[in-house]
Amino acid sequence: MSREWVNQAIAKIEADFQRSADTHLIKLDIPNLSGIDLYLKDESTHPSGSLKHRLARSLFLYGLCNGWIREGTPIIESSSGSTAISEAYFARLLGLPFIAVIPEHTASKKIRQIEFYGGRCHLVPATSIYAESERLAHELGGHYMDQFTYAERATDWRGNNNIAESIFRQMQAEPHPIPQWIVMSAGTGGTSATLGRYLRYQRLDTQLCVADPDFSVFYPYYHSRDNNLTSSQGSRIEGIGRPRVEPSFIADVIDTMMQVEDTAAIATLYWLDTLLGRKCGASTGTNVYAALQLAQNMQQQGQQGSIVTLICDSGERYLDTYYNPDWVACKIGDIRPYQQQLQQRYPL
Ligand SMILES: Cc1ncc(COP(=O)(O)O)c(C=O)c1O
Repeated sequence: MSREWVNQAIAKIEADFQRSADTHLIKLDIPNLSGIDLYLKDESTHPSGSLKHRLARSLFLYGLCNGWIREGTPIIESSSGSTAISEAYFARLLGLPFIAVIPEHTASKKIRQIEFYGGRCHLVPATSIYAESERLAHELGGHYMDQFTYAERATDWRGNNNIAESIFRQMQAEPHPIPQWIVMSAGTGGTSATLGRYLRYQRLDTQLCVADPDFSVFYPYYHSRDNNLTSSQGSRIEGIGRPRVEPSFIADVIDTMMQVEDTAAIATLYWLDTLLGRKCGASTGTNVYAALQLAQNMQQQGQQGSIVTLICDSGERYLDTYYNPDWVACKIGDIRPYQQQLQQRYPL
């Protein structure tokens, strides 16, 4: 079979990469936190709006180089929305049909963005997304991307401008260039796997902390290593926390895990909005709350240093949910105790 179309597809993805800029590393100026610098790697500025732009690029290249994606192959993916938006972007770049199998309560703005890139959305209960994706791929003769299996292996964790290499390059001129901690949350677990492997490969002293929201099995799995764990309720923090142990979640490269209540994550979003003048998605709230806890521990032990975490996507996608106080009170709970805690510790 001719490789002409595949060659052209890879060339289009590489050219798209050449046209792209790296994402910013933002230094926060937090009152009451002297000697500890907190940085946010702003992944919301990718062309398709989230850290999933990196994963989608890797998954398409992996599928093309494995011979799984050919001219006209329909692409199917199970996603909470962000991955589907980024994959729809690349499917359009290559002229391939794209169907996203997404949980029925996915933010409407995300659905509109998938459709904007020419993708179709298939809304199903959160626990059915995997089986439904497999069924559709089989029925259509398509390729099921399966980010939850392949995220950890599609990205080159040794470097090749992955997120870890980019963070360490951007930290080079900072007062504490080797962070004490990198903090991330897990959806597929792909990003934490890349970070954790890179830290080992480069023999860096940085520790990896993974923050986990309510109703996710990653935290209990990390401690029990029981990969049959399931949760009957899905995560309320879009993009992270899973009801089953995903194959891409690599527990052995994580140094510690922290449970972050969803009310704490949303309170942190509002605090961050005041500090940065920017709205971020809820997984960023989970990340930043965990980073602040680690900063407080460091401060109590008289340590100085830096901590890096991620802005995973922008809050503009969630104006009618996480930025709607009525929705938050009804679906997440009372965030005021955490707002008071943050205001007391770090008054803005
Ligand atoms: C908004 C958001 N934050 C965080 C994550 C988690 O990233 P990963 O899948 O690499 O664990 C995702 C994954 O979908 C996401 O969409």
